[in-house]
Amino acid sequence: SHHSILSFSLNSFSVESEKLQSQARVIDELSTLSDSPAPAVTRILYSEKDNLARRFIKGIMEQVGLSVREDAVGNIYGRWDGSEKGLPAVATGSHIDAIPFSGKYDGVVGVLGALEAINVLRRSGFQPKRPLEVIMFTSEEPTRFGISCLGSRLLAGSEALVNTLKLAADAQNISFFDAAKSAGYNLSPDDLSKMVLAEGSYAAFVELHIEQGPLLEEEGLSIGIVTAIAAPASIKVEFEGNGGHAGAVLMPNRNDAGLAAAELALAVERHVLESGSIDTVGTVGILELHPGAINSIPSKSHIEIDIRDIDENRRNGVIEKVHKTAINISQNRQVKLSEFKIINQDPPALSDKSVIDSMKFSTEQLNLSHKFMISRAYHDSLFMARISPMGMIFIPCYKGYSHKPEEYASIEDISNGVKVLALTLAKLSLE
Ligand code: GLV
Ligand code: MN
Ligand code: MN
Ligand code: MN
Repeated sequence: SHHSILSFSLNSFSVESEKLQSQARVIDELSTLSDSPAPAVTRILYSEKDNLARRFIKGIMEQVGLSVREDAVGNIYGRWDGSEKGLPAVATGSHIDAIPFSGKYDGVVGVLGALEAINVLRRSGFQPKRPLEVIMFTSEEPTRFGISCLGSRLLAGSEALVNTLKLAADAQNISFFDAAKSAGYNLSPDDLSKMVLAEGSYAAFVELHIEQGPLLEEEGLSIGIVTAIAAPASIKVEFEGNGGHAGAVLMPNRNDAGLAAAELALAVERHVLESGSIDTVGTVGILELHPGAINSIPSKSHIEIDIRDIDENRRNGVIEKVHKTAINISQNRQVKLSEFKIINQDPPALSDKSVIDSMKFSTEQLNLSHKFMISRAYHDSLFMARISPMGMIFIPCYKGYSHKPEEYASIEDISNGVKVLALTLAKLSLE
């Protein structure tokens, strides 16, 4: 049985404090590759710090003994060959890019933790049958070009995305292709289209991640076994008015693009609450006014809206309401709704039963407490689920903090996650 195949390794899964300290050191070292002062971490796609971090990860992959390759956009793959030729690999991984002023664990735990899981398996004398592969995905965060899960989205196949990227530019008006080139990825739109993977390219995909919510810590549990990932959507909106002098233009004569954006931001909150479900969430994280002077009526406003739900139809209903309200606001305020663009409107993903079973088996073998849960944050796993059986392992994080500098996960909790990941990979690689 699988039990006897795997039980040999459980003793060597106990990790000495020396190894824990070195794991913590590597996480700290990566966090210094940042464009904001510690403890905040900012690491944006194809920036100098992102490039250094990529080199850092490739170095560790080589140290661990994996054969390293990169694809057109810089997804990085480290492979450990299996004993049986020709079988699809079992893959694991996450991201190391970080939104502005975030923490050092989001994504990082799933990349460095995956590499440590490989170390654990090597130390235990394990020999995989299927290859094991660690993937560092490019730009899980949407910061630079507005597109989340860029690397995994391309692997899952999206012609619409290739067309979007042809026109994409960052806030400094640098095109996606120029930014990639500056980081050493000289690619064409054709290269992007060729990235798509056939279903069955991987036997399974498993991602280790901090929970980014408070439940595991509150309930004193070690491991969350993710059964589904909520459906994310993002929208860009622009209003345009006449602007003008803040003193000279009288109130009846204004069409203030800034107030239109403010009204829409409040409407997002209202429409989300109208869903009646605690699972519906909406955020306006970007609100920019032009020209941005205290004594000038905003002539342009730009807002970006993030709406999510575990129920896709309910989420789509909120998007429709927000769209209708944006049109009403533009009519009532006599401003132009110059853009209402749905950037992405992704369905939710379900974890695969056999991957869930392997994660549960591993958690129990290691005598760790667990619960089943949904992921409210999105992950590269959302897209890997389209081409592979998928599962996610969550570990507790301090007060559920994430996407802010106070984000924290203890090295003991990380180590538990690494062990569950290692055993899960081992089990799946023998199936
Ligand atoms: C991932 O960073 C998310 O916003 O869920
Ligand atoms: Mn994140
Ligand atoms: Mn993440
Ligand atoms: Mn815009």
